[in-house]
Amino acid sequence: MLDEIKILQNQIEQAFALVRDIDTLEKFRLEYLVKKGKIQLLFDRLKDIPKEEKPLVGKELNILRKNTEEKFNELKAKFESQSKTQPNIDLSLPGRIMPLGSSHPVYQTMGRMIEIFIEMGFAVAEGPDIEDEFHNFDALNFPPDHPARDMQDTFFIENGSNLLLRTHTSPVQIRVMQGMKPPIRSIMPGRVYRNEAISARSLAEFHQIEGLYIDRSVSFAELKATMMTFARKMYGNNIKFRFRPSFFPFTEPSAEMDITCFLCSGKGCRVCKYSGWLEIAGCGMVHPNVLIAGGIDPEEYTGYAFGFGIERVTMLRTGIDDIRLLYENDKRLLKQF
Ligand code: PHE
Repeated sequence: MLDEIKILQNQIEQAFALVRDIDTLEKFRLEYLVKKGKIQLLFDRLKDIPKEEKPLVGKELNILRKNTEEKFNELKAKFESQSKTQPNIDLSLPGRIMPLGSSHPVYQTMGRMIEIFIEMGFAVAEGPDIEDEFHNFDALNFPPDHPARDMQDTFFIENGSNLLLRTHTSPVQIRVMQGMKPPIRSIMPGRVYRNEAISARSLAEFHQIEGLYIDRSVSFAELKATMMTFARKMYGNNIKFRFRPSFFPFTEPSAEMDITCFLCSGKGCRVCKYSGWLEIAGCGMVHPNVLIAGGIDPEEYTGYAFGFGIERVTMLRTGIDDIRLLYENDKRLLKQF
């Protein structure tokens, strides 16, 4: 009998060595520790052995059962605490591939434009998309009856309210002037909104970069030089451009800058309205009334301002010939940039 106990003890040790988890531990329990288990079977045979052997055999059996139960409880506690802290994860499974997004072509253009102007000494400023009539129109010298104020062109937040979605980034000029003293050399990128019919050339929501430079005796020649330097850095030294006289209430004199239509190389297409040229910026010398609205003395300071349409610049950079394509979020297009 004592030999059988030894053998069983060896068996139990080997069986313990094979226990890996809660399931194999349960199998172990069913084999050794239950009422019909191998340990109990030896206990059942105690009654058949000679009286004088009983105390020793009984003692050995009790030790075996106690040790086995202790070891069992220890392993059980260990597996239970593991299953609490560690969900059942198979770390060898291959991962799920997360496709990487990328920056939108319009934002890539904006980033490059900002880079170029920063190289030229401009700092970046921002203003709110929801503006008031004062910053969007009054302070920019728009007369009270100017057609741009019309509901037809401007998205007002509420009928009769003076809050609106800014129609250009020029109101940020006023905010910058109000916030700092000259010299001012800022660019102001942002989203703008107009109540326009959507076509290959225009959207109701697009992006501009405004520029403002104010100091003592700033000249139109400096404005031109800045615009030309920008165009060359953006498109290369071979770029062709022209300045046309124009009108904006907030600049005097005013001009528009065109560059050769890349898409048709000047031959004429629907994007350049068959003119061969694409307008990319409005610009001019800041109107004295605007300086006054911004709290700057026009006797002491002059300045220039410009505003680029970022979508327009993007189309020229990428050869995309319909502005609507930029906002369809078709991955086949976006993947190319
Ligand atoms: N704000 C003008 C526009 O939206 C562009 C512009 C900016 C013109 C600054 C002159 C000076 O078209």
